[in-house]
Amino acid sequence: MSSSDPLFNPLTVGDLEVRNRVWMAPLTRCRSLLPGHVPWQLNAAYYRERATGGLLFSEATEIAQEGRGYPGVPGLFTDAQVAGWRKVTAAVHESGGLIACQLWHVGRASHQAFQPGGKDPVAPSAIAAKGDVHLPDGSKAKYPTPRALAADELPGIVATYRTAAENAKAAGFDAVELHGANGYLIDEFLRNGANHRTDEYGGSVENRCRFPLMVIDALIDVWGKERVGIRVSPLGSFNDMTDSDPLPLYSHFFGELQKRGIAFLEIVGAIHGDDIDEDLMAKIDAAGREQFNGTLILNGGYTGDSAREAIASGKCDAITFGTPFLANPDLPRRLREGAELNESNPNTWYTRGAEGYVDYPSLDGGPVPTSD
Ligand SMILES: Cc1cc2nc3c(=O)[nH]c(=O)nc-3n(C[C@H](O)[C@H](O)[C@H](O)COP(=O)(O)O)c2cc1C
Repeated sequence: MSSSDPLFNPLTVGDLEVRNRVWMAPLTRCRSLLPGHVPWQLNAAYYRERATGGLLFSEATEIAQEGRGYPGVPGLFTDAQVAGWRKVTAAVHESGGLIACQLWHVGRASHQAFQPGGKDPVAPSAIAAKGDVHLPDGSKAKYPTPRALAADELPGIVATYRTAAENAKAAGFDAVELHGANGYLIDEFLRNGANHRTDEYGGSVENRCRFPLMVIDALIDVWGKERVGIRVSPLGSFNDMTDSDPLPLYSHFFGELQKRGIAFLEIVGAIHGDDIDEDLMAKIDAAGREQFNGTLILNGGYTGDSAREAIASGKCDAITFGTPFLANPDLPRRLREGAELNESNPNTWYTRGAEGYVDYPSLDGGPVPTSD
């Protein structure tokens, strides 16, 4: 049924029928059960409350312990983690929602304290990110210099993504999103501030896209192209990321994604008030539209009205909301009714327990109705 409000027109994404265009962005919340990094009922309750979003993205989810860089984040490489995620996906499905898993390897944004055997984190090149890492004991340290991956190690990392994708299927997810944003492994290969390689995985735009596309191909093998997507943040500076010439890089990358026919591409713009070149960002978003025929999702600082405008003008097909969804479990209803929004409290973004997690009130104060 078509709606006069662009946010509430259903759309087909790959082979999924999605009921609206108010989607939940991936949000790390550090509340999995320790020591196994296992999702549990508390996480299921949080996602269930938000199931009226058209498509929910899970918080970034580690494909292996080597991919970990934050305390309390969930994984998808043990049987217990798969069983834990099943509780989450079942809760979302019972409420009529859909959920994609964001597959994550942090690359250099880690520390020996997270790594098996206290080894160095890995990255395309041995270049440390400027900034601090939050350690499991609550203290902070400078990001260490990572070890540059040898070319013959890369097929093994692709295989790890493949196994995680298989696990995502076993856990009942509806799709997978490759985390190619925010200064983690895939982004580190794409952008030449972090990738100084001189082999076939560095240098030219084609070479820098090679490893990310190998991973995409593995995800397609497991899921089929209709259920695979990727998130990128072409101008994001988080985790000390830069690129000398992003437009040709991403134009090429989007074209390669189109050749593979994946279902969706999510482009992150300015987040948390980042000062980015808006003209360049608009060109990259437009390149996404021109080069890629699947579902285009934009993210970063959208309100209900700016989201409506972006969709109505054809700039994109859907918007992912991060902090607004974090603080408003019934965000679709609030946007539909023009209701006021709860403010998100950054002090509880990454703490543990129910506070700041499942206690943001819905408009009625009770559970969020599932019919929205
Ligand atoms: C608490 C918090 C956790 C986040 N975790 C993730 C994550 O796991 N994966 C990711 O790609 N982006 C993550 N982000 C970025 C958001 O998905 C989103 O890009 C950002 O909040 C901007 O959207 P917004 O303006 O609608 O909030 C996170 C942001 C916040 C505030």
